[in-house]
Amino acid sequence: MPRLDTLAMRVDRLTMAHLRINERQVDLTCADPTESLLRFLRRARLLGTKEGCGDGDCGACTVALVEADQTGAARFVAVNSCLLPIGALAGREVFTVEALANGDTLHPVQQALVDHAGSQCGYCTPGFAMSLFCGYYNGEFDDHVIDGNLCRCTGYVPIRRAAAALAKMPRPEDRFSKGLADRGRNSSTLETPVAGNDAPGGFLHPTSVDEALALKAHSDAAWFAGGTDLGVNLSRGQRLAPTLIAIDRIAELHTLQIADGYVRIGSVVPLTRLETELAGLFPALDEMLPWFAARQVKNRATLGGNLGSASPIGDLLPWLLAHDAVVEVRGPIGARELPIASYFKDYRKTALDPNELIVAVRVPRLDAIQAAYKVAKRQTDDISIVAAVFVLVLDAERRVRHVRLAFGGVAAVPIRALDTEAWLQGRTLDEETVGQASARLREEFSPLDDHRGSAAYRRALVGNLFARFVGERL
Ligand SMILES: Cc1cc2nc3c(=O)[nH]c(=O)nc-3n(C[C@H](O)[C@H](O)[C@H](O)COP(=O)(O)OP(=O)(O)OC[C@H]3O[C@@H](n4cnc5c(N)ncnc54)[C@H](O)[C@@H]3O)c2cc1C
Ligand code: FES
Ligand code: FES
Repeated sequence: MPRLDTLAMRVDRLTMAHLRINERQVDLTCADPTESLLRFLRRARLLGTKEGCGDGDCGACTVALVEADQTGAARFVAVNSCLLPIGALAGREVFTVEALANGDTLHPVQQALVDHAGSQCGYCTPGFAMSLFCGYYNGEFDDHVIDGNLCRCTGYVPIRRAAAALAKMPRPEDRFSKGLADRGRNSSTLETPVAGNDAPGGFLHPTSVDEALALKAHSDAAWFAGGTDLGVNLSRGQRLAPTLIAIDRIAELHTLQIADGYVRIGSVVPLTRLETELAGLFPALDEMLPWFAARQVKNRATLGGNLGSASPIGDLLPWLLAHDAVVEVRGPIGARELPIASYFKDYRKTALDPNELIVAVRVPRLDAIQAAYKVAKRQTDDISIVAAVFVLVLDAERRVRHVRLAFGGVAAVPIRALDTEAWLQGRTLDEETVGQASARLREEFSPLDDHRGSAAYRRALVGNLFARFVGERL
């Protein structure tokens, strides 16, 4: 494998099959588009970026991806390079830890880690530095900026002290902030339009839904959104489909519309945008998102991908069920709407036709008491044992007027407790009713035993979470 500077020599003009790494253009024409950026970087002798898990769990491989925000301004977002195939990055720009220091002068985030003794063996340190680097330019220094980075020997106290010190420091304009401002002004250097046929083989980059559907109809292809599910498969060497259609450059799929009665979420809006732009609109979403993966994953993961994977433990799916969301899809024969109640058919099987694309999800805004719970072995960055979202409307006499009890982790699909919902309808929600409803809930599903939790534990959780909801919120 040639070094990065040799690769850069081969580039003479900006075309589709290029990636900018640390401000150098790298030709991707001969590269395997399904190779992860992490492996590509390491083969190019950019060895600062480390491999820990290869699964998106440890953050050792964090790099900064340049993205345009909703206003068109360029910003850095932290992403896991182990989950990003280079084919998905054609025309994009990334920075690795090698770019940070200026000669012998460390970048302020590196200096803060040194000053606060935030590194011992140093294996995790480039990943922390890159997460803090993105936080530095976005003005974010809370724990969520580094909650996707694991450290096994230093411990988190010195690293958090470094972050706290950075938060208090002045952040004068520097070569990175100037570079972002320039890219924002000249957005064509930020998001090079990438036409399908010019991308490295195996990855297509349509820029409209019609183009995407036409490509899908003529190829044995799979949709690729943020790649946080598919990237794990690729990182493990699994072959997905002969062609991957990256849908993250279709502007229409990035829209987020907040209307009086509902919110319409474009299918490729990253979850970090939902966290900030929908804050306060859906209390249950506000409660679920902090426990959904870590920052690097949420910077890429999408609602369309959560629906596309249709995992029984997809954490946003009970939220959609509890809100009677509507999935808007388009396919070769036109557009249709799928009520979420009829979307999940069987284990990872949905009502979606293979050639259909989820374009958006409409979620009604409810004036209701609501809450979300996620029970996992670890509080952050872990897979649900059981997830629950409850929505309840009572009248003045405390009679149940509307109720939705939605769960993940208790069946082959995300599911509502339809029997208990029907039993609760019209009843007065007193202590006896809550006790009986909890008992019914424990019997309503037949969950599986697995290494995360026994069937009995899951059944108990289903009933207990409802009782907790009533106790906490009413
Ligand atoms: C470290 C880590 C932690 C995670 N933690 C959580 C968690 O806490 N909770 C949770 O629920 N999930 C979690 N996930 C899983 C993943 O992040 C989510 O499922 C995410 O929503 C997937 O979105 P994506 O855009 O990355 O999907 P992709 O990987 O791009 O695609 C996933 C599937 O959906 C299909 N698809 C994508 N977009 C569309 C579309 N618009 N129309 C039709 N099909 C489509 C793809 O073909 C593919 O089959 C985690 C993943 C990782 C790696
Ligand atoms: S190597 Fe662990 S998150 Fe990428
Ligand atoms: S410094 Fe050793 S793992 Fe963090």
